[in-house]
Amino acid sequence: MTSLTRDFFIGLSNSTILNKSAKKFGTRFGADRFVAGTDFDAIIPVVRELNEKQISCTMDHLGEFVMDRAEAAYAKAKITHMLHQIHEQQLDCHVSIKLTQLGLDIEESFCIQNVEQIVEVADKYGIFVNIDMEKYMHYEKTLAILKQLRKKYSHVGTVIQTYLYDVERDLDELEDVRLRIVKGAYKEDQAVAYASKKDIDENFLRIAKKRLLGKAFTSIATHDHHIIEELKKFADEHHISKETFEFQMLFGFRVDMQRQLIKEGYRFCTYIPFGEDWFGYFMRRLAERPQNINLLVKDVFYT
Ligand code: FDA
Repeated sequence: MTSLTRDFFIGLSNSTILNKSAKKFGTRFGADRFVAGTDFDAIIPVVRELNEKQISCTMDHLGEFVMDRAEAAYAKAKITHMLHQIHEQQLDCHVSIKLTQLGLDIEESFCIQNVEQIVEVADKYGIFVNIDMEKYMHYEKTLAILKQLRKKYSHVGTVIQTYLYDVERDLDELEDVRLRIVKGAYKEDQAVAYASKKDIDENFLRIAKKRLLGKAFTSIATHDHHIIEELKKFADEHHISKETFEFQMLFGFRVDMQRQLIKEGYRFCTYIPFGEDWFGYFMRRLAERPQNINLLVKDVFYT
């Protein structure tokens, strides 16, 4: 994909007007291939089916860049409901949250209050909460909030984006924290992030290997078979227990590979996005992979 096409879809993902309008229509343009549903009840059977196949899940109630307190409070209530349901229905599932959905761009203390209430409920049930990493402008604040939460709660972690030059610097401080390693999904300035796939991939491998040798649990979140194969080999050579890490992929991606990894005895977790706020998430998936754009074209012209 050219960087122009990528920038175009990333630009659409940031559009407040389009994100708001899309909410009214339910998933469209082939988005249902990547978004499991618009309401929580509809995705419970999806999670159960995956759990039956030894796949654990992480649920993301979609939403980001919220600028309205009532909307952030609504998101908090939805996520808390999700936690009660995961516990009651005994699902093998944790939750992924975004700080901008919970008010980070409104007021930091308001966001911390919301997140802390979520983490407190999760902690009571022993459910892990992953704080997804968003744009670089939120990076330092996200780490600071995580550190604050970790003083009281252990079931909370975050994401390292390997397109950022300096993330390795933070790894030591995050040594005890459960982390997800990803390449990074947003458009960042070259002052802070690598632009070439080669550099991003090399950083991914460097960071993932360092984590695999460490003591905390690591989620290797990629659809890239080259990276997966190299890390499997590395873990094998270093006698790293398969219990100390997992592979993660997004819902709707590379199902055959998921099955193969489970067959080989690896832990696997699927990221399940759902909700009405699907537009930004879907646009980022289109930005990542030209083949995904075919789904959009088919849906617009053939339905
Ligand atoms: P990439 O897209 O570079 O693909 C590499 C190669 O893999 C391709 O060239 C192709 O050969 C192969 N490939 C990829 N997809 C394929 C497919 N569907 N079928 C066949 N071949 C395929 N980002 C972020 O900034 N913050 C976050 O919190 C998260 N969270 C997150 C959770 C999970 C579970 C995942 C999987 C990803 C994220 N991401 C994320 C997104 C991440 O940063 C990244 O944008 C996407 O995963 C795409 O990058 P890949 O690592 O999959 O490889």
